[in-house]
Amino acid sequence: MWDTVQETVNYIKGKINFDPEYGIILGSGLGGFTEEIEIEYVLPYEEIPNFPVSTVEGHKGALVFGTIGNKKVVAMQGRFHFYEGYSMKEVTFPVRVLKYLGIEKLIVSNASGGVNPNYKVGSIVIIKDHINFMPEHPLRGKNDERFGPRFVNMSQPYSVEMIAKAKLIAQEFNIEIHDGIYLGLQGPTFETLAEYKMVKILGADCVGMSTVPEVIVARHMELETFGVSIITDMGDEESILTVSHDEVLQAAKSAEPNLRMLIKELIIRN
Ligand code: HPA
Repeated sequence: MWDTVQETVNYIKGKINFDPEYGIILGSGLGGFTEEIEIEYVLPYEEIPNFPVSTVEGHKGALVFGTIGNKKVVAMQGRFHFYEGYSMKEVTFPVRVLKYLGIEKLIVSNASGGVNPNYKVGSIVIIKDHINFMPEHPLRGKNDERFGPRFVNMSQPYSVEMIAKAKLIAQEFNIEIHDGIYLGLQGPTFETLAEYKMVKILGADCVGMSTVPEVIVARHMELETFGVSIITDMGDEESILTVSHDEVLQAAKSAEPNLRMLIKELIIRN
C-alpha cells in the first residue's frame, strides 16, 4: 500500500507542480463546488495510476487542483463508495494520496437522510461525530506505521476548531446550520423505516453511505478533518415512500449555494 500510494503521488507530482493545503471530497450533487476554484489542473481518475474509477451517476471522476482565495486546494470530484464493490482500501486510497500530495486539512461533504426531527430537506448539518456501521473497517489488516498508529484515537474525528469557525461563518452569512452525528451504512438501498428508527435510537441525526471510511483513514494520518452533510430526504413514514437518487441530487442542489459559501469561507479564513 505504501509503495502504491507513493507511486501515484510521484506520478501526479511529475505531471503538475502544485502543493495543495486543503483536500475536498465533493459528495452527491456538490460537484458544482469546483466553480469556486480557480482551476489550474484537472486529472481524470482514469489517467491516475492505481486510482479506482467512479461508477455512480452524478459523480464525475477527477482530481481538480487550483486556488480559492490564496489557498491551494485539491478537490475530488467524485468519490468511491463501498457499495460500488470497491474494497475499503480502494475507497480510501485517494485520501492517502491527497495526504502525500501535502494536504493538511480534509473537507468531506455528502448527502444524507435525516432522522432528527429538527431537520428538513435541504438542511446543512455540520458533522460533529460519526458512528461507523460499515461492515468492513478501512484499517483492518497489518498496520503500516508510516501512515499512522495501529490504534487510532477517535475522540475528535472532526476538527473542533474548524467546526467553531464554520459556525461563525454561518452566523455571519445568515446560513441556517445544524450540527449532528452521521451514521455510515453500507447501502446501496435507502433505509427501511425500521432502519431509520434504529439509526435514531443509536443516537445519530442522519445516515448515509460514505464519509466514515475516508474520515477514519484521514485521522489515521492525522489530517485535520471537517465534514458536512446535506439532508436530502427525511427518514419518516411519508418521505421514504418517494425517495430516489434523483430526489437526493435535486435536494442537494437546493442547498448547494449556501454550502459552497460556507466551505469557501472556511478555506479562505483558515
Ligand atoms: N440514506 C442513506 N444514504 C443517503 C440517504 C439516505 O436516506 N440520502 C442520501 N444519501
